Amino acid sequence: MIGVLLLLFLLPLLLYIAAPQIRKMLSTGVCTSTIQLPGKVAVVTGANTGIGKETAKELAQRGARVYLACRDVQKGELVAREIQTVTGNQQVLVRKLDLADTKSIRAFAKDFLAEEKHLHILVNNAGVMMCPYSKTADGFEMHMGVNHLGHFLLTHLLIEKLKESAPSRVVNVSSLAHHLGRIHFHNLQGEKFYSAGLAYCHSKLANILFTRELARRLKGSGVTTYSVHPGTVDSELVRHSSVMRWIWWLFSFFIKTPQQGAQTSLYCALTEGLEILSGNHFSECNVAWVSAKARNETIARRLWDVSCDLLGITRD
Ligand SMILES: *[C@@H]1O[C@H](CO)[C@@H](O)[C@H](O)[C@H]1NC(C)=O
Ligand SMILES: *[C@@H]1O[C@H](CO)[C@@H](O)[C@H](O)[C@H]1NC(C)=O
Repeated sequence: MIGVLLLLFLLPLLLYIAAPQIRKMLSTGVCTSTIQLPGKVAVVTGANTGIGKETAKELAQRGARVYLACRDVQKGELVAREIQTVTGNQQVLVRKLDLADTKSIRAFAKDFLAEEKHLHILVNNAGVMMCPYSKTADGFEMHMGVNHLGHFLLTHLLIEKLKESAPSRVVNVSSLAHHLGRIHFHNLQGEKFYSAGLAYCHSKLANILFTRELARRLKGSGVTTYSVHPGTVDSELVRHSSVMRWIWWLFSFFIKTPQQGAQTSLYCALTEGLEILSGNHFSECNVAWVSAKARNETIARRLWDVSCDLLGITRD
């Protein structure tokens, strides 16, 4: 009896004490590039919290001018101050970007193109996860709309600038969850059936398909593109789901810090010589396996065309 009680008491205590070590063990990927970024320009979406914030901080640390593209400008400004203080780099700027509204995306791109001559690194990091069924300003299902279509439009609007600034890179934050994803062309907006968990997976599959498709289209342009699984990270992504928040809390000892979660994004944004691996998916700073669906070029091309149509972009 006493033994059991002791165990019940000791086990969590031991776990708690060992947590930093366990985290380190589970998080093997570290971006070791020492490259510095003076004169380089970077945009990070969803940069006011979690992985996006850590990614932006590291890019600023290396001397880049970093744009925090955030829905909540006030929160963004606080984070920008913090990054400026920590890194000593004053070139950290906040711009309004609501990926759930194509008007906001177009306004962001227009202003950015007017004020900046270059764009070397675009990190499509923002995302929503498991939110209840809802629609964006343009009537897209929220996950597809924000995680996929919003970033697709943003990348499309900035692509010429990226080409002019080559060598340049696009990093898409996707997820291991893409393995459960499917592209249901007859139900793209979840109008026939909807599951918040699966909608997230579908949108993350779309991220990988598009990274591969864009890599194919950008061959020879000097712009390369990568998709990333950041790992299981303690972030605000789970804010929409109380179940997920519980699961996160239970396993919180094993979950990466945002700083650890940012490593693979940074690896793809910074590592010298990575260009030959353009279009690949990365996890723990290594090329990672993707599902057969994520490698299917027929689906990728069709989704590309459908996405163009939905956004009113001419297919090319
Ligand atoms: C991901 O990256 C590709 C190119 O890298 C881009 O076209 C696409 O819009 C990005 N976002 C999504 C959601 O796929
Ligand atoms: C790609 O997907 C299509 C449609 O789902 C399927 O018919 C085709 O067999 C797939 N191709 C490969 C190579 O898996």
